[in-house]
Amino acid sequence: MTTPSHMKAAVFHRYGPPETLTLCDMPVPQPAQGKIRVKVHATTVTRTDTATLRGHPFFARVATGLTRPKMSILGMDVAGVVDAVGGGVTAYEPGDRVFGLSPDRFGAHAEYVCLPEGGAIARLPDGLRYDEAVVGEGAWYASATTDRLNTGDRCLIYGGSGAIGTAAVQLAKLRGAEVTAVVGHRHLELARQLGADRVIDYQVQDFTKLGERFDLVFDAVGKTSWFACRPLLKPQGIFAATDLGPYWSNLGLEAWSAVRGHRRLGVPFPKDPRGLVQTLAGLLADGRFRGVFDRRYPLADIVAAFQYVEAGQKTGIVRVDMRSD
Ligand SMILES: NC(=O)c1ccc[n+]([C@@H]2O[C@H](COP(=O)([O-])OP(=O)(O)OC[C@H]3O[C@@H](n4cnc5c(N)ncnc54)[C@H](OP(=O)(O)O)[C@@H]3O)[C@@H](O)[C@H]2O)c1
Repeated sequence: MTTPSHMKAAVFHRYGPPETLTLCDMPVPQPAQGKIRVKVHATTVTRTDTATLRGHPFFARVATGLTRPKMSILGMDVAGVVDAVGGGVTAYEPGDRVFGLSPDRFGAHAEYVCLPEGGAIARLPDGLRYDEAVVGEGAWYASATTDRLNTGDRCLIYGGSGAIGTAAVQLAKLRGAEVTAVVGHRHLELARQLGADRVIDYQVQDFTKLGERFDLVFDAVGKTSWFACRPLLKPQGIFAATDLGPYWSNLGLEAWSAVRGHRRLGVPFPKDPRGLVQTLAGLLADGRFRGVFDRRYPLADIVAAFQYVEAGQKTGIVRVDMRSD
């Protein structure tokens, strides 16, 4: 099969709302030394994509470009087939089915993306479809928090129904923790199926008044605060936040709580995306981890996908199909 000279991609050249994206024809990228080119079959639209498109939080622009974005194509999760390799590549060859993350340069909202051979990619486990493997973003952020759990730890996950929350419930169980998931009424059964030992409906019960103590309280949806959850923490317990809080206050509070030394606040930043993807390959292969998927959109409707994700109501992951097969 020959590779076309041009591809479709969702492109942006300035920060802004979803309507900033336009579908363009652009040259198919050539894989440089040490890179592979992947024909993308499936990708996602995540809260990371929507925040990066808007240039929020502002300090993140130090990495993404102060006044204008340095990259022009978003998309962090990728699953597809290797269709060309650059010089020096030994780990992959055309025809290999791969999945993973492009955490720094994004680029998966396009029909082809080039990724470093040594990047956050792995072979797609046998029997898994491309669209079942675009699970990296939520798991990456979740693992930054759940990796601190030990067997028997008591953990409460607030917002167990988003991309991060559904991954966090599963990863916390895999670490041997006892998990309480706080979700809305429509997600109670989902949280149970993901392995939560106990589920609480935030629409009928105020979990901050539980009168119990936890080793970890994880705000996986950015809707509560360290002040509200501190009474739930054991003295050495930690409140972990996915969001920076009003006026980025969680960063200052993190430092202050570290000085106090107990019932601390943490804003864990994920590391080692390659390690995470390799771990996911094993977990997906034997069914110990699965993506929870919401709507799917064709690339042509990616603006609608961004609008839906920004609404903050998705269940798990929103996918973008690049191909129909
Ligand atoms: N640190 C980072 O760089 C980073 C990266 C990505 C995302 N984030 C942040 O992480 C958070 C989660 O993102 P996500 O993609 O996993 O999920 P998301 O799309 O923000 O989560 C949506 C889910 O949250 C539930 N929800 C809404 N309001 C809730 C409430 N008050 N209490 C409990 N659950 C509620 C919704 O279900 P119901 O409608 O049924 O309640 C829905 O299933 C966001 O705040 C996002 O900004 C941070």
